[in-house]
Amino acid sequence: MTGRLFIVGLGPGPDRWIVPEATAALEAASDLVGYQPYIDRLPERAGQSRHGSDNRVEIDRARDALAMAADGRTVAVVSGGDPGVFAMAAAVFEAVETGEPVWRDLDITVVPGVSAMQAAAARLGAPLGHDFCAISLSDNLKPWDIVERRLRAAAEGDFVIALYNPASKARPNRIHQAFGLLRAVKAVSTPVAFARAIGRPDERVVLTTLGAADPGTADMSTLVMIGSSETRFIERSGERPWLLTPRTYGAGR
Ligand SMILES: C[S@@+](CC[C@H](N)C(=O)[O-])C[C@H]1O[C@@H](n2cnc3c(N)ncnc32)[C@H](O)[C@@H]1O
Repeated sequence: MTGRLFIVGLGPGPDRWIVPEATAALEAASDLVGYQPYIDRLPERAGQSRHGSDNRVEIDRARDALAMAADGRTVAVVSGGDPGVFAMAAAVFEAVETGEPVWRDLDITVVPGVSAMQAAAARLGAPLGHDFCAISLSDNLKPWDIVERRLRAAAEGDFVIALYNPASKARPNRIHQAFGLLRAVKAVSTPVAFARAIGRPDERVVLTTLGAADPGTADMSTLVMIGSSETRFIERSGERPWLLTPRTYGAGR
């Protein structure tokens, strides 16, 4: 018997940012699989089994979910934000690639979600209005020298940069190293935003510049947005400025 596997994004914060297709998949599932805090966010439903696990076991979690789907269950694997952005969709397909041949024929649906950079951008104004890139500062699954190469290339290419996973207890210094590298390439007046816990009760936004920023402001719930040479603040009286990266490039040069 063959079941179904949904890979579902819960968005970065409140339930109203979960897309209706994700809600339908969560309701239809016989089994919920995911990082325990994400499972805890979801309401308990009669007849539905919950399989919460630790942060570092994504591949084991993916394999368990695939095995359950192959057994005929309807499984929803949950991720924060969008499941395809530094999240469980890649872990599931890595497991498919190396796992049981029957897993390739399973009915798998990736349900998109709102990613942290989109939620942060919405709060800030329009910082992603022109070309941008997303870089995870975590070096758990890649060497730090490739992170540095990508940061330098993104800075030299004048992309807006959305930094995911900027800091954790195990990696408190990477964000300081990243700022050191970016300051050597980009203007110190470049706008920077620390967008923390966007959409959650403990949301906090700090707007600053590359030169003035305290990289220690970032924690594991923060998305750090680094502007391009075109990104600017639109000042407002008594309100936080908007952040704008216009659609055109070089108009004022
Ligand atoms: C493992 S990544 C997961 C990203 C997720 N799949 C997404 O699409 O947003 C976790 C990182 O996303 C960012 N993040 C997640 N939720 C956030 C939020 N509500 N506000 C700001 N950043 C957030 C932080 O940089 C955090 O370290």
